Amino acid sequence: MASPATADEMSIERGSADDLDAVMAIMERAFGTLYGEAWTRSQCAGILPMSGVSLRLANDRGSGKPVGFSLTRSVADETELLLIAVDPAHQRRGVGRLLLDDMVEEARGHGMRRAHLEVRDGNGAMTMYLAAGFAQIGRRRKYYHGSDGATFDALTFMRQV
Ligand SMILES: CC(C)(COP(=O)(O)OP(=O)(O)OC[C@H]1O[C@@H](n2cnc3c(N)ncnc32)[C@H](O)[C@@H]1OP(=O)(O)O)[C@@H](O)C(=O)NCCC(=O)NCCS
Repeated sequence: MASPATADEMSIERGSADDLDAVMAIMERAFGTLYGEAWTRSQCAGILPMSGVSLRLANDRGSGKPVGFSLTRSVADETELLLIAVDPAHQRRGVGRLLLDDMVEEARGHGMRRAHLEVRDGNGAMTMYLAAGFAQIGRRRKYYHGSDGATFDALTFMRQV
């Protein structure tokens, strides 16, 4: 197996419904089933054609394959990060932060004023969001429903873009 790629070996490109197989493969590897954070294929396929929805891929220039993705939806002057995931084999090498910074840049370029996201309380991604300038603005109790019936709060984060 090729060695894990770093952020400077990535190019961020727009994705489409044609990339759904790759997106679902990353999603299944990145999200555990325990917390109910992952989306199903039909949820992803359903949202992709909608107005304001954008899929962005972190493509490894070496292999030509995506190792991470973000999914956002923009309405009026606000962008929401719906999903972000990096294949576990490529995590902690800056790819997630690259996708997050790309989301903010894209939002700014399209005249957005704020970016929002939700994250399960306790998810390590919170550290990345705080470092990228997001601040917690709310809590949604029992937002995520895990596979064993447990529920988990979501924290709402926001930043100006
Ligand atoms: C969240 C996620 C996308 C981060 O991707 P990544 O490529 O590993 O992130 P980066 O390497 O850019 O991390 C940048 C910094 O964020 C923080 N960070 C990222 N993931 C972290 C984790 N699991 N625990 C603690 N800190 C974390 C660290 O400070 C990290 O810097 P460091 O590695 O120098 O310490 C990835 O862990 C993932 O796919 N998780 C599963 C899916 C998920 O939970 N997505 C978020 C909710 S939609």
